[in-house]
Amino acid sequence: MCGIVGYLGNRKAYPIIINGLKRLEYRGYDSAGLVVMEDDGFGLVKTKGKVSELEEKSKFLNNGSTLGVGHTRWATHGEPNDVNSHPHLSNDEQIVLVHNGIIENYDSLKTELIQKGFVFHSETDTEVLVNLIQYFKDKENLNLTEAVRYSLNEVVGAYAIAVMDKNDPDEIVVARLGSPLVIGIGDNEFFIASDASPFLEFTKEAFYLDDGEMATIRRDKDIDIRKIKDNLKVTHTVQELKINLEEIEKSGYEHFMLKEIYEQPKSIRDTMRGRLLVDEGIIKMAGIWDYQEKFLNAKRIIIVACGTSYHAGLIGEYLIEDLARIPVEVEYASEFRYRNPIINRKDVVIAISQSGETADTLAALKLAREKGAFIYGINNVVGSSIARITDAGSYTHAGPEIGVASTKAFTAQLTILSLIAIKLGKHNGNLSKERFNSLISELDNIPELVQKTLENTAEKVIEISEKYKNATNALYLGRGYNFPSALEGALKLKEISYIHAEGYPAAEMKHGPIALIDENMPVVIIAPRTGYYEKVVSNAMEIKARKGQIIAVVNTGDTELSKIADHVIEIPNSSEEFSPILAAIPLQLLSYYIAVKLGRNVDQPRNLAKSVTVE
Ligand code: M6R
Repeated sequence: MCGIVGYLGNRKAYPIIINGLKRLEYRGYDSAGLVVMEDDGFGLVKTKGKVSELEEKSKFLNNGSTLGVGHTRWATHGEPNDVNSHPHLSNDEQIVLVHNGIIENYDSLKTELIQKGFVFHSETDTEVLVNLIQYFKDKENLNLTEAVRYSLNEVVGAYAIAVMDKNDPDEIVVARLGSPLVIGIGDNEFFIASDASPFLEFTKEAFYLDDGEMATIRRDKDIDIRKIKDNLKVTHTVQELKINLEEIEKSGYEHFMLKEIYEQPKSIRDTMRGRLLVDEGIIKMAGIWDYQEKFLNAKRIIIVACGTSYHAGLIGEYLIEDLARIPVEVEYASEFRYRNPIINRKDVVIAISQSGETADTLAALKLAREKGAFIYGINNVVGSSIARITDAGSYTHAGPEIGVASTKAFTAQLTILSLIAIKLGKHNGNLSKERFNSLISELDNIPELVQKTLENTAEKVIEISEKYKNATNALYLGRGYNFPSALEGALKLKEISYIHAEGYPAAEMKHGPIALIDENMPVVIIAPRTGYYEKVVSNAMEIKARKGQIIAVVNTGDTELSKIADHVIEIPNSSEEFSPILAAIPLQLLSYYIAVKLGRNVDQPRNLAKSVTVE
């Protein structure tokens, strides 16, 4: 939640910060602010609203300043307004700070500071931290770095921060615990950001600060990195980032979400590249192979995740139990971490997360590690917190996902889970050679089928979206592998169109939701040909008998359900194992076009943020 960006070097800081904030806006977009160091002190502007509004109000700051930081906010403490926006100033107006995260003990710290005479203007936890830094700086006569370190040792919570001192135009101090921070290194210039997107056109050389570390960045000097706790010096190897600028641009699409939906043939192929070697008849995954004993001897696999990644986990459960016959449990990370779960050394815990930064997933994983489980990550963002704490893992290689609604990351997660399930099934003898070969050749062809699905369903989906754009509720039904598809379809519709939607196992409908059905209720039924197809057709009859409007997602050439349905969307035939990947495409398009027709901000839906780094 929240994006931070900063620059110290020889270029103008303002445009780098404004453009950087635009790229980080997916992390939060209810308010924004920035500060640049001017000859006579801080030039600071902050406002409720989007970065574009900040840009309008702050143009006069586009001066020669070569040092500054900026912030785009997703409110936690205090509503989005000008005062609560970052940056925050200390009482003496000497220190300025931007923050991504939550200071959990801010209330007690604030009480102590008030007793010492400090005054607070905002409702934020961040203003407490900046004043704590001033307090230590003055009381102990410390420099900025030391004052930040003293303060952070008093703080409980999560943060990525960047701090500047009015009296020092050559320095930024940064620190992280639980929120990401990357430092880009150019030629006598430094960039700091929540992810690397703000500085890709300037440098690809960067390193990620680890949790519990802080860095003092000074003009023309080496960066000094220390452990916050004991001030021990740390070194980091600078790495070459693999992301390209084109990957984080819209490339002619109206929205990132649409671009990302259409990228799926490529992102799935990229995720399989070097892993699925059909000609050699193998699946190569070092993360699984090197630890095969852990997986093959696992008493059970526990998958922890949130949101769309949780839905991918549910499909993973079907895949792994079906193909490898290893028991799987799937848990919301937020529940798992607080319910004292029974975990033992023979468990493998897999965390699925696009961002690799989701606070609940990260905490669930840490808990699993403490209890002795082997922990594995399926993440999209290279170098993310989850990727860095796991024993092993697989990146999804879907490329940067900017739209808040997850699309290509979901199908890439399903691809990895399919690979894992097939590989484990082969190694523990549950899959015959023939079945293994047939599954891998079919998986290898999935990117082509996704391409066909995109080509063949878009027009129909646009027509359907026009008809149902004013619906106030929708039901999504599916069975087996496609029950989680129904959950995911409903989530997509809710989050970007704000239409209430529920996903249900088709057979559960008669135990309650059937009461909702009338002529105004669109019901999306995901029913590719499977062993229980006929049962789903019966469920559809029950809906029709109550005048519900049926949108059926069926296989090409379907006859039965197509006769009953009001609208039919055909996806290519496939084994049931891969049908959720194909079914996801029209469901994503349906939510996208309904949201566009309703005039919603598709890439930045209200109240949401791309990575949820708070509880
Ligand atoms: O980065 P993660 O995969 O851990 O994120 C988990 C959820 O916050 C995320 O999937 C969220 O539900 C998306 N907005 C769904 O489109």
